[in-house]
Amino acid sequence: MDDYAKIIYKGKTYKLPVVTGSEGEKAIDISTLRQKTGLITLDPGFANTGSCISSITFMSGEKGILRYRGIPVEELARHSTFTETAYLLINGVLPTRKELNRFSVLLNDNSLVHEDMQIFYQNFPRASHPMGILSSMVNALRSFYPELQTVEEEINKTVTRLLSKMRTLAAMSYKISMGHKVIYPRPDLPYCANFLNMMFDSPVKPYRTHKELVKALNVFWILHADHEQNCSTSAVRVVGSGRVNLYAAISAGIAALWGPLHGGANQAVIEMLSDIVKNNGDIDSVIKRAKDKNDPFRLMGFGHRVYKTYDPRAKIIKKTCDRVLKKLKIKDPLLDMAKELEERALTDDYFIEHNLYPNIDFYSGIILRAMGIPTNMFTVMFAIGRLPGWIAQWQESADDPKWRLSRPRQIYTGPTKSKYIPIDER
Ligand code: ACO
Repeated sequence: MDDYAKIIYKGKTYKLPVVTGSEGEKAIDISTLRQKTGLITLDPGFANTGSCISSITFMSGEKGILRYRGIPVEELARHSTFTETAYLLINGVLPTRKELNRFSVLLNDNSLVHEDMQIFYQNFPRASHPMGILSSMVNALRSFYPELQTVEEEINKTVTRLLSKMRTLAAMSYKISMGHKVIYPRPDLPYCANFLNMMFDSPVKPYRTHKELVKALNVFWILHADHEQNCSTSAVRVVGSGRVNLYAAISAGIAALWGPLHGGANQAVIEMLSDIVKNNGDIDSVIKRAKDKNDPFRLMGFGHRVYKTYDPRAKIIKKTCDRVLKKLKIKDPLLDMAKELEERALTDDYFIEHNLYPNIDFYSGIILRAMGIPTNMFTVMFAIGRLPGWIAQWQESADDPKWRLSRPRQIYTGPTKSKYIPIDER
């Protein structure tokens, strides 16, 4: 044991190995801690806990770095497509042209969903949030597409089915919520253009996909494709560790992503910016509320558990926003408001001291608005983007020969052994 940490407890010294990652990150391996010392660790929110060893995504919160399988996200956003990035995350390497064509054909072949699933949509109450619907529908896929014969066939088929059908399900849910005719996927359109067409084409007004919007959607989904052990990915890994089917694990990831502290922040940002615009641009009171410890309000789209500098994804999305709005000649007052709010927050002592910078959600909603995506669908858009990451992370844990059931411990602080008191004597 070359590199180790020592724990001294009750006069005895215990040596615990230190594990080093390929980017020099270090962790104390405490897997034998309880067995050796009787102690467990306590780490609310797991801010100091590594839950796995992974070769998928590297991020540095201090340097503002994000790489998928070693490739900087900036390069992927510039040169790749969402389908190619999904392939990279899931298979570990960039595809050859032949492999990418084959992957696209598979995605097209799996894009239709069972007609009976449309009946489910009709029965959700009108005001249902699309994330709740999506989570239920993805879980329901298992009933429509039961287990296949071999493990390999099962994994390959389920992965392509999910990637393709979740996009169809999302567009279907929007069309049905509007009371409009469902538009079927088109085999001649690539992944992102196909999605926009399913969302916005109609028998009365044919949709013409705009090159700039298709590029922006590719960038948006590439930037969301993975983010190592975040809340929803951890949910997928934890639920998956009980050996449920992949649909159920992904459905849990969607549910976790829904929350406003996680993926739901993109919707919350737009609501916050709209409120500021409605209140005649009153940024002062928003900043004041965000700093007030007695007020639960937070500046949405600001702050991150890992990034203590500018989120690299936010930089790209901000630039993409500017480009798309300029090219499409769209004037969105929310973009101006977002920039003004960002400037104010970044020069405010509270935000400086707390290392609070815009995260990806701060500007992402503005691009989605430019595409015509309704606000309550924003988190669904995030979920489609995060899907390749969830799949890759689930697969990595499933391939690990040491895959164990996730089962954290706790420190109990409730009553010690107490007597049962019959109801009439209480
Ligand atoms: N506005 C005001 N204060 C904030 C904010 C914010 N957005 N974020 C963090 N803080 C403050 C906290 O009040 C706390 O202050 P204190 O130490 O003086 O008590 C300190 O910064 C640390 O905050 P924590 O909540 O402990 O940080 P944590 O790492 O647990 O939370 C989180 C990260 C949830 C993202 C937080 O920054 C937040 O709520 N941001 C707003 C929601 C948001 O944008 N979420 C999207 C994140 S990106 C993603 O998931 C896609």
